[in-house]
Amino acid sequence: KEIVVSGIRPTGYLHLGNYFGAIRNYIRMQEDFNCYFFVADWHSLTTHPNPKDLPGNVMRVLAENIASGLDPEKVTLYAQSDVPEIAELYLLMNMLAYVGELEKVPTFKDKVRLQPQNVNAGLLTYPVLMSVDILIQRAVKVPVGKDQGQHLEMARNFAQRFNHRYDTDLFPEPEAFNYGDSLVRIPSLDGSGKMSKSENEMATLYLADDDDKIRNKIKKAKTDSAAVTPGTPMPESVQNLVDLMKLVSAPDVVQFYEAAWDNQTIRFGDMKKQLGEDMVNFIAPIREKAKDLQQDTDYLRKIMKAGAEKARANAAQTLQQARKLIGLNYY
Ligand code: TYM
Repeated sequence: KEIVVSGIRPTGYLHLGNYFGAIRNYIRMQEDFNCYFFVADWHSLTTHPNPKDLPGNVMRVLAENIASGLDPEKVTLYAQSDVPEIAELYLLMNMLAYVGELEKVPTFKDKVRLQPQNVNAGLLTYPVLMSVDILIQRAVKVPVGKDQGQHLEMARNFAQRFNHRYDTDLFPEPEAFNYGDSLVRIPSLDGSGKMSKSENEMATLYLADDDDKIRNKIKKAKTDSAAVTPGTPMPESVQNLVDLMKLVSAPDVVQFYEAAWDNQTIRFGDMKKQLGEDMVNFIAPIREKAKDLQQDTDYLRKIMKAGAEKARANAAQTLQQARKLIGLNYY
């Protein structure tokens, strides 16, 4: 089976973007691939989380993944920091990463803007660590949202560069993956960009939101009051809501509102009510299951431990070969 790797940072509650950009793919892929899914706890340290919050956040990401439909019997679930082999290969790979190329990465530039008081070296080398997460398992497919596309390109570059320098084919070149043709980007509800964990809470739908919160957030979602003119394309804010509908509502419901736009009979209040109910029906079962799972920390720890063992075994093989190729073999 082909190897798949993907990770999620434990920086807050998971939201609809994480679900439809990443987790939805995980669930389908677990049937056909050898999947390694992990919690990227080292990556989250670039934003200096409170040590008291970290264990709970890691457990919750795990619980929310399983509640969404991941079967721990089928996939390998682990915490990044439980696989120290990643840290060693990261050190080695840093020697092949150029400061110039890292400084040009858009996500790095964003962080410099967002946290100018904390531009740590971990932020700069973030894509190296991410590449190593993937390469150390020799993964070929990486299910991620659109915002990670550039990082995947870098992972391919590093794989190529290492293979070329040490005249090997140790690392396959991994590809960003989504069922469907292109990578997904779920918009925020206020029309200000993509949905994200750190953003305005009212513009983000979390898998942990209760029913009324979900309804309320959708009710307050932005809809341009721009004149509804036949034949004109929908304004982005309306299109965003239709796009969300396509994810959770029945196809005939989506068609109904698209037609209503075309013939100028659309009523945003009704549309939001419908979307609110469909969203509640989608999120509620995941939320309830995640809540139960989070109580069972023994179970979650057991899964994490078993996952780490498997991830380490596979990673150790790759690392051993990398060391040898580099010339770090003395005994
Ligand atoms: P993170 O934790 O920010 O997000 C986890 C996953 O959710 C996707 N995602 C979205 N997809 C569509 N629309 C959105 N609005 C949206 N917001 C988030 C992300 O694309 C991602 O797939 N660097 C990664 C974590 C990581 C990783 C890796 C991923 C570390 N090492 C190795 C894959 C392979 C990150 O910060 O994701």
